Amino acid sequence: MTARILNGKAAAEAYRTKVAEGVAAFVREHGRAPGLEVVMVGDDPASDVYTRNKKKAAEAAGIRGVLHRLPAETSEAELLLRVAALNADPAVDGILVQLPLPRHIDPDRVIDAIDCDKDVDGFTPKNAGLLASGRPNLVACTPKGCMHLLELAGTDLLGARALVIGRSNIVGKPMAQLLLARHATVTIAHSRSRDLADLCREADVLVAAVGRARMVKGDWVKPGAVVIDVGMNRDADGKLCGDVDTAAAAERAAAITPVPGGVGPMTIACLLDITLLAARHRAGAVR
Ligand code: GUN
Repeated sequence: MTARILNGKAAAEAYRTKVAEGVAAFVREHGRAPGLEVVMVGDDPASDVYTRNKKKAAEAAGIRGVLHRLPAETSEAELLLRVAALNADPAVDGILVQLPLPRHIDPDRVIDAIDCDKDVDGFTPKNAGLLASGRPNLVACTPKGCMHLLELAGTDLLGARALVIGRSNIVGKPMAQLLLARHATVTIAHSRSRDLADLCREADVLVAAVGRARMVKGDWVKPGAVVIDVGMNRDADGKLCGDVDTAAAAERAAAITPVPGGVGPMTIACLLDITLLAARHRAGAVR
C-alpha cells in the first residue's frame, strides 16, 4: 500500500479563503477588522519564522495583524504589562504569546494573564478546561488543524484506536480531547511510555507530536492507519523532517501528512479562524 499524502498546504489555502470571506462579512457588519496581536520575546529563529508567518497570514485574510518583538531581556513584569494593555484594548480580539519564552519568564503566569475571550491559542486554564469538559470555546490551533486533516482523509474516528504521542498543553492534551469528543478510544503516550512501538502498531490513528526527528519507524505503523505528523525537526543533515519516518510509514499507512506542507499550514489557517470566532464572540454576534 502507498499512502495518500494529505496536502495541508492546499487544504489550508481553501480554508483561508473561507476565513477571509468571514472576515469580510465581519468588517461589513461591525465596521472594523478583527485584530490579532502576536507577541514574541527574544530571538528564537523558529519562533521568528512562525510569528512572521502568523502576522502575514492574518493580513492576507483581512485581519489586522500586529507583531510585538520584545528583546530577550524583557522582564516578566514588562511582558505582563504588555498583555494587560492588549487585554484592555477593544480593537484587539486575539492575543498570542509565542512559546517558548526565555527561561526567566514563567509561561504559566503569562498565559494566566491573557483574557480568556482573547486567548486564540486556547491555552488558558479556562479554555483548556472547557475543552476537557466537552464544551469547547477557543481551541488550540494545531490540534484543530490536525482534526481538519483527519476529516480530509475521511477518517472514521468513532470507536477507532487513536494514539497521541506527546502530552504537551500545546498539542498532545488538547488533541486527545478533540479525538475523545469524536468518540475515538484515545491513548496518550510520552517519553516515559513503555513499548511505544507496540502501542503504535495498534493505532488506527496515530498523531506524533514529540519533536524528535523520524522517531516513529515505518514498521511501527499499523497497515491502513492514518498518520498525522506534527513534528518539525532538523535531521543530522539539517534537512527539515517530522517525528515520523514518512517514506517508510507511507508504505503501510492509508494516509499521512508530509513535513513540511502538512500540519503547519493548517495550524495557521485555524489560528485565523479562531481569531475570527473570538472577534464574533466579542462583538456579540455569537454567544
Ligand atoms: N509554539 C509552538 N507552537 C505554538 C502555538 O501554537 N502557540 C504559541 N503561542 N506558541 C507556540
